[in-house]
Amino acid sequence: MPRRSCLSVPGSSERFLEKAPAVPADMTFFDLEDSVAPAEKVAAREKVVRAIRGLVWDDRVLCVRVNGWDTRWTYGDVIEVVSAAGERLDEVMLPKVESPAEVVALDLLLTQVELNCDLPAGHVGVEAQIETARGLINVEEICAASPRLEAVIFGPADFAASTQMPVLTGGVQVPEYPGDHAHYVFAKILMAGRANGLQVIDGPYLKIRELDAFRDFCQRTRVLGYDGKWALHPDQVAVLNEMFSPTQEQFDRACAILDAYKDATEGEHKGAVMFGDEMIDEASRKMALKFVSRGERAGLKRSEG
Ligand code: GLV
Ligand code: MG
Repeated sequence: MPRRSCLSVPGSSERFLEKAPAVPADMTFFDLEDSVAPAEKVAAREKVVRAIRGLVWDDRVLCVRVNGWDTRWTYGDVIEVVSAAGERLDEVMLPKVESPAEVVALDLLLTQVELNCDLPAGHVGVEAQIETARGLINVEEICAASPRLEAVIFGPADFAASTQMPVLTGGVQVPEYPGDHAHYVFAKILMAGRANGLQVIDGPYLKIRELDAFRDFCQRTRVLGYDGKWALHPDQVAVLNEMFSPTQEQFDRACAILDAYKDATEGEHKGAVMFGDEMIDEASRKMALKFVSRGERAGLKRSEG
């Protein structure tokens, strides 16, 4: 499933929950964590259950972000929401993951909920948020902690707090820094995710009115190979769906590379062949396949002729 745009919806807001199905995000997640005030945490569970069951969703990924294991709400969030709405729920997002044991604990809890609710074993997937210094240090073990894991996500706001960066807004450009201040983090999370077959997602961009700056910032993780990024507002969703899809030109070129490579290997029994003015081989096929599968997921069709 594509996750180019992952829309965050506060679980305590009936108004935002009701609007969410009309926003064309690849993934919608209902937040029980940091966008919900402590006094609303418990009541939000029921609102999220009602939204999942009662509203009309297409085939997008539906996820609930529970509170982290360092709070008192995690097990209640999982048991209440997954028991009542587990059938349509694709996954649970665990924030502030610092060790593989936290993922294993969630996996075990989900196994029991699935048994009690007649859900197929392994039905509910897990997404892990990396947003602390300790989480980043352990990201390789975290990404390998459970077969339920589907995606790993960077959380820039909590990460800035955890590492004591001298900024007051996380996940935006830092012009004083000569380069990309988050490059090491982006690259490290990407390697850990890909080594374990996970999708890799960038987190929120908090200046929601600055769409040009948002588009510019998306390039950092898009170019590295991330699958998508969070959206905090419907306007960000449209930008993400475009930014994290191949262009028609890239899609057509990737299809042409696959054809040329197939002709070369199957017709002429050659492993490497010229494609225009460049050499292509098996590695080119693998690169092209990724463009084609992402393009097809985005609904692209090969141009005629
Ligand atoms: C997201 O949860 C973040 O902390 O950036
Ligand atoms: Mg966070």
